[in-house]
Amino acid sequence: MLVASCWLKKEDFLTSNQQLTTRNFFPLAFFPCRVSLGIMAILGHGIDIVETDRIRRLCEEHGQHFLDRVFTPVEQEYCNANPKRTFEHLAGRFAAKEAVLKVLGTGWRGKIAWTDIEIARDPSGQPRVNLSGECARIAADLGITQWLVSLSHISTHATASAIGANER
Ligand SMILES: CC(C)(COP(=O)(O)OP(=O)(O)OC[C@H]1O[C@@H](n2cnc3c(N)ncnc32)[C@H](O)[C@@H]1OP(=O)(O)O)[C@@H](O)C(=O)NCCC(=O)NCCS
Repeated sequence: MLVASCWLKKEDFLTSNQQLTTRNFFPLAFFPCRVSLGIMAILGHGIDIVETDRIRRLCEEHGQHFLDRVFTPVEQEYCNANPKRTFEHLAGRFAAKEAVLKVLGTGWRGKIAWTDIEIARDPSGQPRVNLSGECARIAADLGITQWLVSLSHISTHATASAIGANER
């Protein structure tokens, strides 16, 4: 139990103006009854890099058909909201989808649809992975219950990293 407790954050026990002292360290170290132990097992990691111009060319050649095949309405709405960087944002999401596929270990094939993987955003701008369809099924088989994803892009390239984890 001591080992598991070490993963708990002191913020779980202390209010923001309390200091960690020897008096309140004891419950922090030995508190036995928390439902989630906060232990995360990393099951897979994937990265990818995409040329922004590749996405621009695909959009120019295939237009809305390409966009609808690869990006969900939520993703398209966000990327279109910033016309100067639309292709960068799209390339970032494309890289993130490929990174997620690497975690799933399948690559893009079979019944998988690009739109099974949605890169949404929380209010702070942090990207979030929403899976559906075949990708959700594969992730469940692998025991993945949590995703961590990070994107970065400049005018020429976009890159992304994804981690699939099981939180106990
Ligand atoms: C969030 C931040 C780190 C993004 O970094 P950046 O170099 O501007 O841009 P990058 O291309 O590397 O990253 C962009 C991606 O970061 C991600 N991102 C945005 N906000 C985020 C957050 N709160 N947490 C994690 N990721 C975030 C998004 O996925 C974004 O891509 P998207 O807009 O296509 O979804 C940056 O804007 C920031 O707030 N930096 C804080 C420090 C700062 O303000 N520096 C400027 C003065 S020196």
